[in-house]
Amino acid sequence: MRWGWALRSLRGRDFLTLSTVTPAEFRALVDRAMAHKRGLVAGKPLDGMVVAGIFEKPSTRTRVSMGTACAHLGATFMTLPVEALQVSRGETLRDTATVLSRYVNAVAARVKKHETLEELAKWADVPVINMLSDRYHPLQALADVMTIVERFGDERVKVVFVGDGAANTSHSLMLASALMGYDHAVAAPKGYWPDSSVVSRALEIASETGATIEIYEDPVRAVHGADVIYTDTWVSMGVQDVEERMEVFPPYQVNDELLKHTSERAIVLHCQPWFLGQEITESVAYGPRSAAFDQAENRLHTAKAVLEALLA
Ligand code: CP
Ligand code: NVA
Repeated sequence: MRWGWALRSLRGRDFLTLSTVTPAEFRALVDRAMAHKRGLVAGKPLDGMVVAGIFEKPSTRTRVSMGTACAHLGATFMTLPVEALQVSRGETLRDTATVLSRYVNAVAARVKKHETLEELAKWADVPVINMLSDRYHPLQALADVMTIVERFGDERVKVVFVGDGAANTSHSLMLASALMGYDHAVAAPKGYWPDSSVVSRALEIASETGATIEIYEDPVRAVHGADVIYTDTWVSMGVQDVEERMEVFPPYQVNDELLKHTSERAIVLHCQPWFLGQEITESVAYGPRSAAFDQAENRLHTAKAVLEALLA
């Protein structure tokens, strides 16, 4: 495969954010996920390994894709709701990470605060994988890009995130677009623009790959000529200002009217779960342009690529 060396460079590392992944490593993961999807990877490269999966928040796709990926690769995925761990009674993350490292080959966690992952990674002797934090969702962005590459191959496409620009999915997609050399735009209400440190990092990567990054308040301007429209819930898990969001986000709904301003071939992506009638209409979610269920399936293939790269 192309970029095999880049895949090998991920071995033993944490996977917390795409900020620290190179364009070649990212592309190698996408290629490897494609190989898994095509059934080209034989054997059980993680035979006998165990991955601990800690959850501070609910999850369907991430939990089940990681569990299934582990099973197919020969590893066991241990689902650990945080309430079932002693950390819920005050045991430190240091001790949790240190002890888990004596048993398992990797620790994956879905956390409220990104700092929790950083603390786990600081003390764990095994790779730590981000299964979603308030700040980033890198496993999701990998499946997002895999879905884009399935539809558009190696073309340079225009990707537009519409909605909560400061959401974990928005941040990770921006970094992913930068790594892929895409033209990336965000359409979000002021106050919900991406974090400036994420934009700075995306611009640094973009200077290497030729990507462009733009941020708009006007969704119609942003989606002009877009090949990929992406949206996510207006109210991410753990977010507090729900009423305010319900007031400012309605102009950012992805609906048939907004799609008239995109390129004719544009596809629609959504990480799911979606809230129909809020950020996306039912007709778009289940319509001919929606690639959301391929995107959800691709969580399985990309999870395999990540687990294999870090652990095999
Ligand atoms: N997209 C995603 O992460 O879905 P879950 O919350 O169901 O894992
Ligand atoms: N931004 C959403 C993603 C869910 C998969 C959330 O954090 O709730």
